[in-house]
Amino acid sequence: MDNSPVGIFDSGIGGLSVARAIIGLLPLERLRYFGDTARIPYGSKPAATILSYSISISKYLIEDLGCKAVVLACNTASAAALPQLRQTWPHIPFIGMEPAVKPGAAATKTGVVGVLATAGTFQSQRYAGLMARFAQHIQLLENPCTGLVELIEAGQLDSRSTRQLLESILHPMMEQGADTFVLGCTHYPFVQPLIQDIIGPGRFVINPAPAVARQLRHILEKHGLLAAHTVPHHPIIEVSGRPEQAQPLTDYMLGLGHLVMQAPNKAG
Ligand code: SIN
Repeated sequence: MDNSPVGIFDSGIGGLSVARAIIGLLPLERLRYFGDTARIPYGSKPAATILSYSISISKYLIEDLGCKAVVLACNTASAAALPQLRQTWPHIPFIGMEPAVKPGAAATKTGVVGVLATAGTFQSQRYAGLMARFAQHIQLLENPCTGLVELIEAGQLDSRSTRQLLESILHPMMEQGADTFVLGCTHYPFVQPLIQDIIGPGRFVINPAPAVARQLRHILEKHGLLAAHTVPHHPIIEVSGRPEQAQPLTDYMLGLGHLVMQAPNKAG
């Protein structure tokens, strides 16, 4: 048993979609969430930059806050930094994200899967590895969804601009036969209802967050790290940018009405 918190980080508030799944599965774990809203988006930045951000945030979560495990609730950071973080803190379990190519390949009936991710994720070796292992016999249609993360961070979950952008991404995929759509960025579950509305019935969206929560539970169990708390506590959310900007989306995603706090400069 270990009552230390679990750290979660993302380029912004998108990782709250993963935090929500973790709270649902592991309600007695204390969560420390860090959203790097001052430096978002990560998806269009060089991998070396994302690696250096990920190291400083992990250092903050592990060395300052005492986290027993860290979830990289960001596909771009997972692609750029996971091996190096594991090497730097070998005693800490790190759980990363990846686009759900394997479940997408298993679910599609048409053999065509739309993958919505970021440019950084598509350019990564992690994604190339997924394609090689699981997508040999299907067609993947990729779109880096330029501008979508920014619209979501601005709270435009159902605006005209967001709908137009998503239609311009999804309609060509549907025309090419896609029946399954993989959310390869933790921000995108915020607009999952809109995506489902555009693609209509009979086509499916895969959000990997529940699988990541199950993976975290498995790893905590395996290492004897599950918390022994008896009552749930609200997660502590910190952001590197303006808290008041992140508050409405935090409330929308978690529905807990907790405080968003400014992160100390150390994580920067
Ligand atoms: C972004 O900041 O561009 C999104 C990061 C991600 O979840 O891949």
